[in-house]
Amino acid sequence: MKTILSGMQPSGQLHIGNYLGALKNWAALQNSGKYMCWFMIADLHAMTVNYDARAIGERTKNLALDYLACGIDPDHSTIFIQSHILEHTYLSWIFANLVPIAELKRMHQFKEKTASGEEAAMNTGLFTYPILMAADILIYKGDTVPVGEDQKQHVEITCDIARKFNNAFGKTFPEPELLLTPTPRVMSLTEPMNKMSKSKGEKNYIALSDSPETIKKKLLSAVTDTSPGETMGAGVTNLFTLLKAFAKDDATHRELLNTYNAKTLQYQELKETLAREIIATLAPIQEKRREFESRPEIVAEVLFEGTKKARALAQATLAEVKEKVGLK
Ligand code: AMP
Ligand code: TRP
Repeated sequence: MKTILSGMQPSGQLHIGNYLGALKNWAALQNSGKYMCWFMIADLHAMTVNYDARAIGERTKNLALDYLACGIDPDHSTIFIQSHILEHTYLSWIFANLVPIAELKRMHQFKEKTASGEEAAMNTGLFTYPILMAADILIYKGDTVPVGEDQKQHVEITCDIARKFNNAFGKTFPEPELLLTPTPRVMSLTEPMNKMSKSKGEKNYIALSDSPETIKKKLLSAVTDTSPGETMGAGVTNLFTLLKAFAKDDATHRELLNTYNAKTLQYQELKETLAREIIATLAPIQEKRREFESRPEIVAEVLFEGTKKARALAQATLAEVKEKVGLK
């Protein structure tokens, strides 16, 4: 059986990009019964930007609620907290010695900071973040990593690290592969050339917790400009992508696309239909989240048991690694 390992940072509210790019897919993969699934709350990674010691506990709990509400089922998947398993950071130190600085400098995240002149102020945690991510994955011998497109490079570097370790110390780790969803890159509603992201202001994303009124309002003001000569602008393309992902049946999507091709589509109709579909998808998720929220003892138990189970496997892998690298 293949092993899936994925995670998200507890850095605030989730949006529909996180849902379509990751969570929805995680639940489907779990339900396929073909994988052993580990889903982590990456609180150590959340320390790399805008860290708030007073908020992290609450955010971790909120992310656990989101996982559960979106269908991650503790009877079939292990949900756990990264920072509670010290073996991740130990393994990341061993891995750090296999990674040339030049390789980390090739990461998009680093390049973006350098391009915007922020390199000097960038902390070392953000720089070495992909190494910790490799440890997160490989300590569970994860071979399949379902994440959005923005995480592709991190999975590639994980593969390099696994290969290097195996070559140097003997076959220990699988070389994991990235598993993208059909919607690996959801775009911003206000700047559709960029990906939907929490950092670009409330109007650019739809949060999983948004009310029906807010969802309608945000969609009605979504950018739909198409430049002359362009067949379909990035904003409209994104709305159609969202419709395809959220509509219960593909007929709605096809019908509106035909209207668009016949040049008779009113964007308002597209936006209102999309709003209805998103609201219908999010309603049961929000309802389930409220139920779990009213039973905090269940969430605490899920995290406690999940973390215990993850720790046992992490400890076994680290013992094997220490033996192989001569630290026994
Ligand atoms: P983040 O919130 O950036 O930590 O991302 C958590 C997960 O959601 C990762 O698997 C990302 O790849 C995915 N994700 C984030 N933003 C988007 C987006 N706009 N479109 C698709 N997937 C996304
Ligand atoms: N870096 C990922 C993100 O920002 C979160 C993450 C940390 C992760 N460790 C991981 C994802 C291991 C997959 C596997 O979304």
